[in-house]
Amino acid sequence: MIITSCGNSERMAKKLAKQLQATYSPLTIGAFPDGDAYLKFNASLRGQKVVIVQSFYPHPDMSLFDVVFAAETARDLGARKVILVAPYLAYMRQDTRFHPGEAISSRIMAKLLNNSIDKIITIDPHLHRYKSLKDIFTINAVTLTANEVLVDFIRKKFAGSHAENYVIMGPDGESYQWAEEIAKKAGLPVTVLEKQRVSSWEVHSRMLHPVPIKGKNVIIIDDIISTGRTIEEAARHAKKMGARSIITIGVHGIFVDDAMEKMKKAGVTTVISTNTIEKETSKIDVTPLIEDVLRKEK
Ligand code: R5P
Repeated sequence: MIITSCGNSERMAKKLAKQLQATYSPLTIGAFPDGDAYLKFNASLRGQKVVIVQSFYPHPDMSLFDVVFAAETARDLGARKVILVAPYLAYMRQDTRFHPGEAISSRIMAKLLNNSIDKIITIDPHLHRYKSLKDIFTINAVTLTANEVLVDFIRKKFAGSHAENYVIMGPDGESYQWAEEIAKKAGLPVTVLEKQRVSSWEVHSRMLHPVPIKGKNVIIIDDIISTGRTIEEAARHAKKMGARSIITIGVHGIFVDDAMEKMKKAGVTTVISTNTIEKETSKIDVTPLIEDVLRKEK
């Protein structure tokens, strides 16, 4: 097995190679003077299973392009199987035509990958209108969830011995599915806000399933934190209701532009994410989840 990365998840790729005693071989990725992409494998791939580890952030479009180029090249060089590990899979939120004429990007992304890889492994893809990845992928698609790892983290770092001081909050209806499961497993109360997205940059919300918030440490959980507007709104609610502290945990921490400052300004005291996207906030390691799946490929 050869493990490589197109640049976004190098640390995870190296860690997986070490844990699985596989070869880590970095790709050379560059561009010709006119901007045409250049890509080169630096190991012999004939007869090998090739694992490309690539989070689709930053640069979702280039990430997809690089993965398709790498996968096609791997096949061309005689790879036996090409597996994509996309810890964060972009484009999943555009799962319908919200306005006439729009591209349903998730379908196009999946179509490109269906043609060039044999298997995809991803973590908490944004499944809203799709029931599962099978709705768009014809190849073997493995969906993992960081829920258990998040529960462990919450127990160890926060609510272990003072559970009565903590509340889990889902910032919108979509997040309730995992907020509820995590709260149940961590033995904490859960509440959810109803979100109304006015535009890509503007979000309003109101509280459903109310629980006491005054004097509590509120842990807001979401799958993706992008502009930070959803968390900002939730944090404002929590603060208005007298929360003592506000912790935010996102599986995929994108944090566009000033997202971090906006959340802090709204009262968020701590921001934590997993390493599906490698950042300073990545305090929760999801590599073992992927390792377990890849071990079966060895
Ligand atoms: C949307 O449905 C997702 O679950 C997240 O709530 C959303 O992507 C967060 O985006 P933003 O940080 O831009 O509000």
